[in-house]
Amino acid sequence: MIQEYQTKEKALAYLENADRIPERSHGERMVLDLLPSTTRRVLDLGTGDGRLIDLVLAVHPLATGLAVDFSEPMLERARARFANRNEVSVQYHDFADSILYLGRFDAVVSSFAIHHVEDDRKQTIYREVFEILEPGGVFVNLEHVSAPTDKLHDDFLDAMGITRETEDRSNRCTPPAIQLDWLIRAGFIDVDCFWKWRELAVLAGTKPS
Ligand SMILES: C[S@@+](CC[C@H](N)C(=O)[O-])C[C@H]1O[C@@H](n2cnc3c(N)ncnc32)[C@H](O)[C@@H]1O
Repeated sequence: MIQEYQTKEKALAYLENADRIPERSHGERMVLDLLPSTTRRVLDLGTGDGRLIDLVLAVHPLATGLAVDFSEPMLERARARFANRNEVSVQYHDFADSILYLGRFDAVVSSFAIHHVEDDRKQTIYREVFEILEPGGVFVNLEHVSAPTDKLHDDFLDAMGITRETEDRSNRCTPPAIQLDWLIRAGFIDVDCFWKWRELAVLAGTKPS
């Protein structure tokens, strides 16, 4: 079954409005702040057009990266972004499948992507991320989380300029506290919600050295 983001219409509509997500740049800055200066190998899960891993590599010019997504229109845009740069590989991967074969990384990052899968798989992805990180590696997830009340969800939609009718039907958002608990159960330390604006949050943890 084709999922929404695998269609050209949805992928391009998202990318056209990506800069209009309020406070996004603050969340992205927190992602960058949390990456150790020793970061050399980076994985971006649900990369879209490669925006986040591009920001990471701008700060870590010696690093190399793997950017994965399951949407061909998104992969096309990411490949175009990195066409003349061999520090990033772009690859098809569906979150439905294990990420264990993707390699080993100092940092795994993601933005607004993992919330598209059901909770069971999200929790398993967090465990798999722990497995593929080198000791001392970090997982930093800039994510769309759920609001604690309907009123706060409506306030978020208002701030985003959307309605319950037009909000993304593929969202499967989860409260941040539950996700922090999953990270701790996976084995991560120094787990926290490092930044939050309404339903947008940076959730992160470190694999013990
Ligand atoms: C809201 S976009 C975010 C894209 C990019 N990370 C960014 O911050 O602009 C969500 C991304 O997650 C990807 N995605 C959703 N479900 C996925 C799945 N099952 N496997 C892999 N990627 C998925 C979509 O194709 C899309 O590129």
